[in-house]
Amino acid sequence: MTVPTHIAIIMDGNGRWATRQGQPRFKGHAQGYRNLRNILKAASDMGVKYLTVYAFSSENFKRPKAEVDFLMSLFAEAAAAELDSLKKENVKVVASGRIDELPAKVRKMFIRDIEETSTNTGIVFNIAVNYGGRNEIVDAARKLAEKAAKGEIKPEDIDEAALSGCMYHPEIPDPDLVIRTSGEIRVSNFLLWEIAYSEFYITDILWPDFNEDELKKAVAAFGGRKRRFGKVSDDE
Ligand code: IPE
Ligand code: IPE
Ligand code: MG
Repeated sequence: MTVPTHIAIIMDGNGRWATRQGQPRFKGHAQGYRNLRNILKAASDMGVKYLTVYAFSSENFKRPKAEVDFLMSLFAEAAAAELDSLKKENVKVVASGRIDELPAKVRKMFIRDIEETSTNTGIVFNIAVNYGGRNEIVDAARKLAEKAAKGEIKPEDIDEAALSGCMYHPEIPDPDLVIRTSGEIRVSNFLLWEIAYSEFYITDILWPDFNEDELKKAVAAFGGRKRRFGKVSDDE
């Protein structure tokens, strides 16, 4: 089985999962978190080297305050509760997004997990929180503009490699496979720069129901894809 080096997941459908059970939306987020814990372990066991998950978009701040507050508390609690097991499992935690704009309790817990797992050598777990693909490109453009203003680079030095180097995690290779649960066929501002040649897998399964078997189905589908990167494929 060809296992993707980097899988990125748009974990969508928590609200609908809860509504279908006659439960308030936050129950779906709590179940989504439990599921993420299983999927991180499953991905690591399968040999995936990088797992990026979309936990909260920059636009998700436009949701009702009660839902945003619940999610922020969940992030802080999860980051605190999982540190020991993440260490045991040799997981290296990183984050993508405007982390400095998060409530202090969330920011502190994420930074603690990131620092305390920084020397781990297993799967890299990249949590995209307060993340927007356009924001990431804007932030990269600002970094380059600052360098240009200081005279460190010239406009003609700006190429794809220079821009890539200013993304949140230039050391992480682009995703091979992007999974979106709950059936929406859109990108919702996720990893706009990095998904130039990613394969997409969209399933109607809602995120809390996306278990290890579903992950294996996605990876099997990926294995059947022919990636051409604009070239003519070798066997034609
Ligand atoms: C994804 O589930 C989680 C977040 C965006 C935080 P949703 O909350 O978007 O669930 P649906 O799409 O409303 O079902
Ligand atoms: C994308 O889902 C963001 C996350 C899964 C965190 P949304 O539910 O916010 O996306 P839209 O609004 O349906 O495009
Ligand atoms: Mg949604």
